Amino acid sequence: MSALPPDGRAGEDVLAELRSLRSGDLPTHGGRTLAYVYDSGIEGLDELAASAHALASSANGLDPTAFPSLLRMENDLVAAAAGLVGGTHSTVGSVASGGTESCLLAVLAARDARPDVADPSIVVPATAHAAFHKAAHYFGVRVVSVTVDERTFRAVPEAIAAAIEDDTVLVVASAPSYAHGVVDPITEIAAAAAARGVRMHVDACIGGWVLPYLRRLGEEVPDFDFRVDGVTSISVDLHKYAYCPKGVSVLLHADASLRRAQYFASADWPGYTMLNTTLQSTRSGGPLAAAWAVLRRVGDDGYLRLAERTRCAVKEIRAGIGEVDGLRVLGDPDATLLAIATVDDPGFDLFTVADQMTARGWYVQPQFAHQHSPVNLHLTITAANHGSEREFLDDLASAVDAARAAGPADVAPQLVETIAALDPETLTPEQFTSLLAGAGLGAGGALPKQMAPINALLAVAPAALRERLLLEFLGSVYRPTT
Ligand SMILES: Cc1ncc(COP(=O)(O)O)c(C=O)c1O
Repeated sequence: MSALPPDGRAGEDVLAELRSLRSGDLPTHGGRTLAYVYDSGIEGLDELAASAHALASSANGLDPTAFPSLLRMENDLVAAAAGLVGGTHSTVGSVASGGTESCLLAVLAARDARPDVADPSIVVPATAHAAFHKAAHYFGVRVVSVTVDERTFRAVPEAIAAAIEDDTVLVVASAPSYAHGVVDPITEIAAAAAARGVRMHVDACIGGWVLPYLRRLGEEVPDFDFRVDGVTSISVDLHKYAYCPKGVSVLLHADASLRRAQYFASADWPGYTMLNTTLQSTRSGGPLAAAWAVLRRVGDDGYLRLAERTRCAVKEIRAGIGEVDGLRVLGDPDATLLAIATVDDPGFDLFTVADQMTARGWYVQPQFAHQHSPVNLHLTITAANHGSEREFLDDLASAVDAARAAGPADVAPQLVETIAALDPETLTPEQFTSLLAGAGLGAGGALPKQMAPINALLAVAPAALRERLLLEFLGSVYRPTT
């Protein structure tokens, strides 16, 4: 079937083809995919979101006067998010397409509010989301990355304070961090930023919609929101623990003066005056309306119940990991994310465990070693995991047994040498292809079934080379259909 059929086809046929394509994806529901997706398990929620999306997807958020419904829904979402994270009557915000866009905008606003700074920098804990490196890369800002505590993986406030320079335009901390699920000491970091007159962003993309409910359930949640003096902006993703379809995050600012530099206007062309609140210009009303509908359908009490289910799942899975011979949980996670590492010399490797879990119908996400953080498997636990915790843990134990029996996935010494000789600056597509061939992985283009050999190979490569190799990989898979 050509990518553009010569004649239009029946809608049902098209949907059947799409369903067949989607059947090869990771499941988004049922709790078996422990990264990328968030499943409330609430019956009918997807259908409601899809109907709301359809009602608004052709409307354009580019012009709030033309589509006041989108303006109203955006203001509702911002109010709801602000209400959860200690916003006041001065709190304002914007709806962005995702967490990365919210983080980009926080950096952009901080940079542009300081035209007096020649060489702007942001101070981030080494565990801050890569979105801040992307922001720095896009906006010509320097990243001052500060090592975190090697045992707790939390940012060290004194080290952050010491890293703040005259050129620092933003200090960042996470609530919680994606990699280890721990909340940084926000109170101390915000105080250090405020003492230097610098903005402080709390990245609560993943925790913003669940930490407040965990606290209401009696969990000890460290202070992380606008109630902390010195916090000037917070990002909260609705497509994570608010269980909304993808494409919605809220960036909140403590007051409108802080948001001002995030906005963009251009009248310097013959068309309409371009007036944007975010990085996008045309903005579909679809994700916004879908999120708005989901929030109204679930309601505050519904989110409390979802957090309760999630909390039960986290507790049981966390306790169970500790009982699997050779495994441990990294740090002391504060929220709903767990990082599974091995004890010393476990006799197996986690990349193989991940593949063994895939074979058992679960997706767990390998994370590479970084500074003090060893290779580990990331779990994003959601409400849908409640009820199948035992099954997950039994499969995890059997995946570890299988990985032990298989032995660690290691990389041939000559391949390690080849990798050591590669320069990320000058790597060519040909070198990439021959590296794959040398590893017995075939030419680029096909998606591999077994990830362990690839991950083992990537783990040997220094971060800069790994980035480069993966960019080559992207270039090899994003090719027009033939
Ligand atoms: C803490 C944190 N910040 C930012 C992001 C980026 O969000 P997105 O993938 O929606 O762009 C994530 C994603 O998991 C996150 O966990």
